[in-house]
Amino acid sequence: MVDLTVNGEPRRVLVDVRTTLLDVIREHLDLTGSKKGCDHGQCGACTMRVGGSTVLSCLTLAVAVREPVETIESLAAPDGTLHPMQQAFIEQDAFQCGYCTPGQILSAIACVEDGYAGSDHEIRDHMSGNLCRCGAYPHIVAAVRQVRDTTPARGTGPTAHGTATGRG
Ligand code: FES
Ligand code: FES
Repeated sequence: MVDLTVNGEPRRVLVDVRTTLLDVIREHLDLTGSKKGCDHGQCGACTMRVGGSTVLSCLTLAVAVREPVETIESLAAPDGTLHPMQQAFIEQDAFQCGYCTPGQILSAIACVEDGYAGSDHEIRDHMSGNLCRCGAYPHIVAAVRQVRDTTPARGTGPTAHGTATGRG
């Protein structure tokens, strides 16, 4: 039996001890926003936040998770208002097929919040674990820049630019 807090709600699931966080979230809790790209820690499509830090949920055993989990479904407000990073991805045309996008957005939020969005090079470096087969990289960088430049300063990284918190 695994007890998790997912997007602010307590959830209990009975799973094999080898089950990954990604499979629990997608297959047992029916939150399918997080994607399984490679299942080997190589693409970033499964990125979630655990205790405020980004993790690759395909490499994380659900039984090992002790802190709250946030998925892409947590970002928009109940009235449908999008998180600033979601809005920026739309405005900057930062996706094509969209398969990588949930992971990209969660990593992008961390990039800004943690202060690693000081330059395009820094953004690309911080986002390098999230692959995009459609090659939307320049637009993704533009979306991160947009949020960086339109949100209040905060962060612990080298440039400590802005924050995209506020789950809407
Ligand atoms: Fe987890 Fe690719 S599905 S890194
Ligand atoms: Fe298609 Fe990134 S938008 S893989």
